[in-house]
Amino acid sequence: MGKAATYERIAQEIAAVIDGETSAIARYATAGCLLSEAFAHYYWTGFYLVDPHKPDELVVGPYQGTLGCLRIPFGKGVCGAVAKTGKTLIVKDVHAFPGHIACDVLTNSEIVVPVFDEAGKLAAVLDVDSTQLGVFNQDDKTGLEAICKTLLVGIPQ
Ligand code: SME
Repeated sequence: MGKAATYERIAQEIAAVIDGETSAIARYATAGCLLSEAFAHYYWTGFYLVDPHKPDELVVGPYQGTLGCLRIPFGKGVCGAVAKTGKTLIVKDVHAFPGHIACDVLTNSEIVVPVFDEAGKLAAVLDVDSTQLGVFNQDDKTGLEAICKTLLVGIPQ
């Protein structure tokens, strides 16, 4: 099965499991688990959440992988850049990205996708890291953006 088809299958599985679930944390945990189980090129998969007490800072949420850093200010590293702009970033070589936060030395490339709530406000970012260089492409972007777009739909504000 190709990447695009796998993303579609995982999107359906996530939707089925989170159906009726009102906890955002439970939804993040479900998506992170099913995604990381599905793809061999994933090394670290997780969400950094906008801290309601510090709205310009991300705090680590549910993740699968080695120890992640706890907090990332908006504008810092790849996650912080995405939190600031609200736009997906694919980084082929994290060592060439200014300000990259090296939580794990084995990470070589990554993709970070914003997650918005139903009101259109940034709620989190999804960070997927790989040990392989340049492994994330348009299929990952399309697949992950589709999942992140519907992840918080139906959660009471
Ligand atoms: N890759 C991130 C930092 C978080 S960890 O790698 C888990 C970044 O530079 O934004």
